[in-house]
Amino acid sequence: MDSNEVNKLLAGFLGTCFIVFSVGIVSDALFASPAPEKPGFAIEATEPAEGGAAGPAAEAKPIADLLATANAEAGAAVFKKCQACHTGEKGGPNKVGPDLWDLVDRPVAEHEGFAYSAGMKDFSKGGAEKWTYDNLNHFLLSPKKFVKGTAMGFAGLAKDEDRANVIAYLRTLSDNPKPLPAPGAAADASAPAKPAEGAAPAAPAKPAEGAAPAK
Ligand code: HEC
Repeated sequence: MDSNEVNKLLAGFLGTCFIVFSVGIVSDALFASPAPEKPGFAIEATEPAEGGAAGPAAEAKPIADLLATANAEAGAAVFKKCQACHTGEKGGPNKVGPDLWDLVDRPVAEHEGFAYSAGMKDFSKGGAEKWTYDNLNHFLLSPKKFVKGTAMGFAGLAKDEDRANVIAYLRTLSDNPKPLPAPGAAADASAPAKPAEGAAPAAPAKPAEGAAPAK
């Protein structure tokens, strides 16, 4: 090809570049997207603020209130996640974790034939601590935060609903299901005071509410 043709080709190429650039600049101007006020999506973190140790107690909603609307059948579906490591039948075998039959109010780290971690044994205070509804609520929210050094390799159930449902289901795994706690009653003294009734249970209670005076 002679130099004339080369020139034409080059001119064509440069022309194309020019058009592409112009279109880019114009469309940038047209579809300018100002930086969002808050970058990214609002992610509802369930991590305790900081420090950790005593943190989780202030995070989980009172279990009595959650259980008032819980659904054990939905909890059976959530329990599938647990079944990777736990059985739930009477006399069921221990797997990666201990059998969870008759768990509610069972002493912590006392199931026969299971070798618990040192962290879980510490938490059990020699069998004095039980799997109350409240303890389960906090443990299942964030196992490793609530029981330091636990061997339970499970991230936790961040959704209040999932925890309530699975706890309601766990309650049914018993010859003699424990009574449900009375809704409205604070689960224990450490629970932040609830704005009595009126506040719809669906209200996003987490952030401001309570603002524990302790902190
Ligand atoms: C990846 C495996 C795994 C999964 C998934 C898992 N766990 Fe565990 N779980 C364990 C292990 C291991 C232990 C023993 C922990 C220790 O000794 O520190 C344990 C302990 C427990 C305990 C204490 C039992 C006792 O006798 O003191 C409870 C309660 C429990 N798990 C509930 C659950 C529930 C409910 C789920 C599902 C939402 C679940 N776990 C999911 C592995 C698992």
